[in-house]
Amino acid sequence: MKIVVSAGPTREKIDPVRFLSNRSTGRMGYALAEAAAALGHETILVSGPTALAHPTAVRFVGVESAAEMAAAIKREAADADCVIMAAAVADYRPKYVAAEKIKKSGGSLTLELERTEDILATLGAETGGNCRRILVGFAAETECCREHALEKLIRKNLDYIALNDVSRSDRGFCSENNALSIYARDGRCLELPLASKREIAAAMLEIVLTKPTVRNQSENEEAMQ
Ligand code: CTP
Repeated sequence: MKIVVSAGPTREKIDPVRFLSNRSTGRMGYALAEAAAALGHETILVSGPTALAHPTAVRFVGVESAAEMAAAIKREAADADCVIMAAAVADYRPKYVAAEKIKKSGGSLTLELERTEDILATLGAETGGNCRRILVGFAAETECCREHALEKLIRKNLDYIALNDVSRSDRGFCSENNALSIYARDGRCLELPLASKREIAAAMLEIVLTKPTVRNQSENEEAMQ
C-alpha cells in the first residue's frame, strides 16, 4: 500500500524572523511512518520542522507552513491507499506577513489571523465513491473528548479518528508515550492503553489497515446515535 503520514507542527510566518507554531514534537507521526515502512508499505512522511532524525525506508517531504503541508499532502494523497494526519496543522495564520522585521513600539501589537485550509476536510470531501483511500485523523481534546472526536469524524468524513486526551501530562503532546481511543465511522471504539508511541503506532496501523469501515454516511450517522 502507499501510505502518507503527516507529522509535527507547522510554522506560520509573522515576519522574516518570527512565526506562530505549537508544541508538537512529531513523535507520533514519525512512529507511524516507521511502523508503516517496517510492514513493507511505500511510506511518505510529510513533516513540519522537528528535532527528529528522518526515519529510514521512508520518503521524507519537509514542509514549513500549513499551505505547504496542504500542497504536499494533496499531491501525495492522489494515488495513496491511506492518509494519516498526525500533524498539528495551524488552524490560523497571520493575514499579512511583514516583509521586514516588525520593530517594537510603545503600544500593543495586534495580529490579524485568517483560517488555513483544513487538509483532512478537503480530502474527506473527495473520499467515497471511486475514491477508496482510508482517511485517518487525530483529535487533541481537553474536555467532552468523545463528542468532539465524533463530531470531527463525521464533519471531515473520516474512516477513523484517534482521540488524544491532552489534559493528561503522561501522554500525547511532548510525551514519549501515548494512549488513544480510536473511533471508527461504523461506531466501533478501540482503546489503546498507555504505551510507547512506537507500540501505539504499530497497534493503530493494525486497526486502520486491516479493519475496513463502512463508507456510507447515513449508516455511519445511525451507528453514532
Ligand atoms: N488538520 C488538518 N488541517 C488543518 C488543521 C487540522 O488536516 N488545517 C487535521 C489534523 O492533522 C488532525 C485533525 O485535523 O488530524 C485535527 O482536527 P481539528 O478540527 O483541526 O482539531 P483541532 O486542531 O484540535 O481543532 P479545534 O481547535 O477546533 O478543536
